[in-house]
Amino acid sequence: MNIPKLRRSTSCRLSLLALALSSMLHFQSALAEPAQARTGKQVVETVCAGCHESGKDGAPKIGDRAEWSKRASVGLGILTEHAITGVRKMPAHGSRAELSDLEMSRAVAFMVSGGKATDPTKPYSSPSQVPGGDLVKARCSECHTTGKNGAPRIGHMEDWKPRLQSGVENLVMSAVRGHKAMPARAGMANLSDADLRAAVVFMLVQPKPL
Ligand code: HEC
Ligand code: HEC
Repeated sequence: MNIPKLRRSTSCRLSLLALALSSMLHFQSALAEPAQARTGKQVVETVCAGCHESGKDGAPKIGDRAEWSKRASVGLGILTEHAITGVRKMPAHGSRAELSDLEMSRAVAFMVSGGKATDPTKPYSSPSQVPGGDLVKARCSECHTTGKNGAPRIGHMEDWKPRLQSGVENLVMSAVRGHKAMPARAGMANLSDADLRAAVVFMLVQPKPL
């Protein structure tokens, strides 16, 4: 008896999923991030300089080419990964969770090259550290299961549909930068953009509430 109704909603979900995935692929091939990413210079001057100018806690100093090239010998990808997830006294994302991994890559390039490198258009690194489903269960579900403070609910496509209009990659950037009552990186500065993307996609494809 319920079958026709079920079929309709399933096909509706599938077409939304196809829309979501195709827009995700579109954005990824076009650009790693929608516009308005800050330049390496801007990020370094406003955030990183706080420690890297004076060398606070042993931070490699801006302009110390020898120290930077020694550290960069592991490769810019690994160096950037450390800045994204945090290493020793270097806090994840410089304690600014809302910086994207692309902006972190730009800032690292700026410091390593002494301001000479051009800003990369793609992040050097965005490490995948935790499967989307695990992250959702550990963190996102706290608000996205019940719809706390107006969070779109997992398994309720009607909550996500209007938000999907501008594409999955914009939803990922909302999770990175924060969006109204949703905190930047869900309050976990050591998560990478790739981790958040996996969690967003996991939530989007759930056919029913968790
Ligand atoms: C609160 C202080 C602080 C801020 C803010 C900060 N850093 Fe650091 N950073 C450090 C310290 C301390 C180290 C040295 C860690 C070590 O090697 O023991 C470091 C090291 C690094 C390294 C080298 C990591 C390695 O593996 O050798 C990179 C790259 C880096 N920071 C990038 C950044 C970027 C980019 C920003 C700005 C977005 C930033 N940092 C903001 C304190 C800071
Ligand atoms: C403390 C509660 C809370 C947690 C934890 C949380 N969210 Fe949210 N989230 C919200 C709220 C509230 C909104 C709705 C904000 C708004 O009005 O757009 C939201 C909205 C979103 C949106 C839609 C943004 C848009 O542009 O429409 C995405 C995507 C999202 N969250 C992803 C995540 C991910 C991924 C996690 C886990 C890593 C997570 N959230 C954890 C509260 C939370």
